[in-house]
Amino acid sequence: MPIRNTLERWGSVAKFFHWAIVLLVITQFVLALIAEDLPIGMQKLAVLARHKSVGITILALATLRLLWRAANRSPAMPAAMPAWEKLGARVAHALLYALLFVVPLAGWIMSSAKNFPVSWFGIFQLPDLVAPSEATFNLAHDVHETLAFTLGGVAVLHLLAALKHHFVNRDAVLKRMLPFARVPVVLLLALAGNAGVGDAAAATPAAGVSVGDAASGTLQFRFNQAGADTTGAFGRFTVKLTTAADGSPTALAVTVAIDSLDTKDKDRDSALRSADLFDAKIFPGATFVASRFQRAAEGRYDALGKLTIRDVTRDVTLPLALTATPGGGPPRWLLAGAIEINRLDYGVGRGEMRSTEMVGNAVTVTWSVKLAPAR
Ligand code: HEM
Ligand code: HEM
Repeated sequence: MPIRNTLERWGSVAKFFHWAIVLLVITQFVLALIAEDLPIGMQKLAVLARHKSVGITILALATLRLLWRAANRSPAMPAAMPAWEKLGARVAHALLYALLFVVPLAGWIMSSAKNFPVSWFGIFQLPDLVAPSEATFNLAHDVHETLAFTLGGVAVLHLLAALKHHFVNRDAVLKRMLPFARVPVVLLLALAGNAGVGDAAAATPAAGVSVGDAASGTLQFRFNQAGADTTGAFGRFTVKLTTAADGSPTALAVTVAIDSLDTKDKDRDSALRSADLFDAKIFPGATFVASRFQRAAEGRYDALGKLTIRDVTRDVTLPLALTATPGGGPPRWLLAGAIEINRLDYGVGRGEMRSTEMVGNAVTVTWSVKLAPAR
C-alpha cells in the first residue's frame, strides 16, 4: 500500500493515523466510564493513569498526523458533492482535529491543577501545565467532559456521513480511507444490514460503458479578462467512456452544449454565444472524441483524440485520471484533468474579438466528472 496520499486516495500513513486515533478515542471513553463507576482507590488510579497515557498518545499522534498532512496533499472531495456538503465536511474535519488537541490538553491541565502530575505509561513524567488550583481544575474538568462528548457526537455524525457516501452516493470516500480495501467493506455491509447487497451483487464486469454529466461533475474554463483570471462553467455536457474487460479505456466521447456556458454575467454570456465568438446557433456543440489511449502511470492515461470547437478540429491529448473504485464494486471512474488551449486556434474570436489585449488567447479548461456504469 503506497505510503503517501494522492489526489484520489489516502496513503498508508494517513490511514494508520486516522484508525489508530479512532481506536484510542474509543478506548478513552471505555476507560473513563470504567473509572467513573469505581470508588476512589488504587484501581481507579490505575484506570485513570491508563486513560491519561492513552490521551497523551492521542495528542502526540494528532500532532504527527497534522505534520504529515501538511507535508502531503489530501485527496480531493468528489466533484459531485454540493458546496454545502463540502463545507460541512471541512468544518467537521477541522472540528475533529481541534478537539483531538483541546480535549487531551484540558485533561492534562485538569490533572496538573489537581496536582496529579501525568506520567506516560510510567516511562516518563510530563511537566505540569498549570499550578494547582481548584478553580482551574473545575473549569478544565467541565471543558474536558463537555468537549469529550462533543468529540464523540461529531465523530458519530462523521461516521454517518461516511456511510452515506458509501451506500447512498456510492462514491469512493469511505473505501479510500479503509485500511484493507475488502475486509471492512464486508463488515460494513453486515453492519448496515441489506443496504449494500446490491452493491456486492453488481460487482465484477469491468468491460462496459460508463457515463457522466453535469450532475456528476464539473467542466470549467478560465481565461484572462482585463488582466484578471475569470472563470466560467458549462451547465450541460455528457461524457461516455467505453472500457475493455481489463478495465482500460477504449473510447471516450465528450459533448458540450455551448449555450449552457455560464460566467455569472448575462451580457458576457450572450457575447460569448454570439457569432464573433462561439456562434452557438450555428455550432451548438463542442466535442472531443478519442479512441487511442496511452497509459501514463497507474490509473492515468493520455487520451489522444480530436477536439472540435466551432468548425475547427484539432488533435489534442487529454490527460485523464481514471480511478477504478477498489473493493470490487461496479467499476467507477473519475475523469479529471486540465488542458490549455488557444481560443484563436479554434476561431473563437472574429472582428474585434480577435484582439487578445482584453481577453487573452489562452483558455484553461478543467474538468472533473464521476462516471458510473450506464444503465
Ligand atoms: C482524546 C483524548 C481524551 C478523551 C476522548 C477523554 C475523554 C474523557 C471522558 C469522556 C471522561 C469522562 C468525563 C466525566 O464524566 O467526567 C474523561 C475523564 C477524565 N479524563 Fe479524559 N479524555 C482524553 C484525554 C485525557 C488526558 C490526556 C488526560 C490527562 C492527562 C485525561 C484525564 C482525565 C481525568 C483525570 C478524568 C476523570 C475526571 C474526573 O475526575 O471525573 N483525559 N475523559
Ligand atoms: C474518533 C473518531 C474519528 C475521528 C476523530 C475522525 C477524524 C477524521 C478527520 C480529522 C478526518 C479528515 C482527514 C483529513 O482531511 O486530513 C477524517 C476523515 C475520514 N474519516 Fe474519520 N474520524 C473518526 C471516525 C471515523 C469513522 C468511525 C469512520 C467511518 C466508518 C470515519 C471515516 C472517515 C473517512 C472515510 C474519511 C476520509 C474522508 C475523505 O476521504 O475525504 N472516521 N476523519
